[in-house]
Amino acid sequence: MANVILVGAQWGDEGKGKIIDVLTEQSEIVVRTAGGNNAGHTVYIGRDKYVLHLIPSGILRPGKVCVIGNGVVLDPIGLVKELDGLDKLGVAVSPANLVISETAHVVFPWHRELDGQREIRKGNNKIGTTKRGIGPTYGDKAARVGLRVIDLVNAAKFPGRLRERLAENNEVLRALGAQPLDYDTLLAEYSRAADRLRPFVANTVVLLHEATRRGANILFEGAQGTFLDIDHGTYPYVTSSSTTAGGACTGSGVPPNRMDSVVGVLKAYTTRVGEGPLPTENAEISDLLHGMGREFGATTGRARRCGWFDAVATRHAAMVNGIDELAITNVDGLDTVKRIRVCVAYRVDGKEIRHIPNDCEILARCEPVYQEFPGWETPTDAIRRWEDLPANCRHYVLSLGQLTGARLTIVSVGPAREQTMFI
Ligand code: IMP
Repeated sequence: MANVILVGAQWGDEGKGKIIDVLTEQSEIVVRTAGGNNAGHTVYIGRDKYVLHLIPSGILRPGKVCVIGNGVVLDPIGLVKELDGLDKLGVAVSPANLVISETAHVVFPWHRELDGQREIRKGNNKIGTTKRGIGPTYGDKAARVGLRVIDLVNAAKFPGRLRERLAENNEVLRALGAQPLDYDTLLAEYSRAADRLRPFVANTVVLLHEATRRGANILFEGAQGTFLDIDHGTYPYVTSSSTTAGGACTGSGVPPNRMDSVVGVLKAYTTRVGEGPLPTENAEISDLLHGMGREFGATTGRARRCGWFDAVATRHAAMVNGIDELAITNVDGLDTVKRIRVCVAYRVDGKEIRHIPNDCEILARCEPVYQEFPGWETPTDAIRRWEDLPANCRHYVLSLGQLTGARLTIVSVGPAREQTMFI
């Protein structure tokens, strides 16, 4: 399989966790390269449901090495909780199968508080963040004032560095009318987490470089989706990391010429959590999916906004990520729909356009131009072979591949590993 970058080709929640889990079978190493515990990857194995936020889902497969790369922002308290959760479920995690980058940036409670305070101040223009402190942590990284994992696990120097950062941030919190944070409590909490995480911390760039030299297969798992990318998303309604394929290089230290292919994951329709434009948003499909108990966020439990498949968006995603292969998930979500719509262009200010406008206000005014497809009106969740899918269903998913401009290779009709078909 060589070195594969997996990205979300929509607004996140494309069902990447499941596809990552399936592709992990063919990889030795799985690397998370961006985001933090704003992500939630859900994997079902048998009757067990696992929701992972920071640890790559490869951890659930014995013998795989999981790496939390330098591009991730890491909440140590959240990570320790995740380790405890895996421990309770009987999943063995040790430095042999989990390695954390020394240079990943650390999330502190002031980041979460600032995240919340900024959202309050934005009022109606709020982003609808997960309030996990992601934006402020990446902000500190860019401003060169962040603390990294290497600082966290340095027991001699961490207290002084924490004191310095806390002094500045408490001033900001006070100015915003928020409660300042207590140094001793924070130091105790973070030192406890540091003691637990220290054995896992290493120079992951060197580790990955050595792995590529010996020809190990590496899977670079994306978090969030293309339109939440800080550069290529629907700014400012985005997250603060590079969620597109380039982020896999900068977020891991593995150079572009060591990457072999890019897999884009798509849902058979569109969803988005949080605010921001979503041209194909539609009440009919939202009600249908929510009524089926689907499309509630894995991290915050929020109901996701739903709409028809937007091929203008996915074409753009294929372009910025260089998507070679597509995995289409949640096909079974459309099993009962009589006539399925797909957006093939936008109409705005009397003109038809075939690309995503960079101005969010213009995107918000775009009306979708739809092409209709006949539904298959048959349950697909029990189908295990591509050739057994209803003809209308095969036609629909193949058309999504063509409209997006990449080769369809995986179709998923449910959350379980076995509900996956390779074409
Ligand atoms: P933040 O990443 O918490 O700052 O949130 C910024 C935007 O990205 C919000 O609209 C969130 O709902 C969205 N977002 C962040 N992480 C995810 C994810 O894993 N899935 C879907 N949306 C996400």
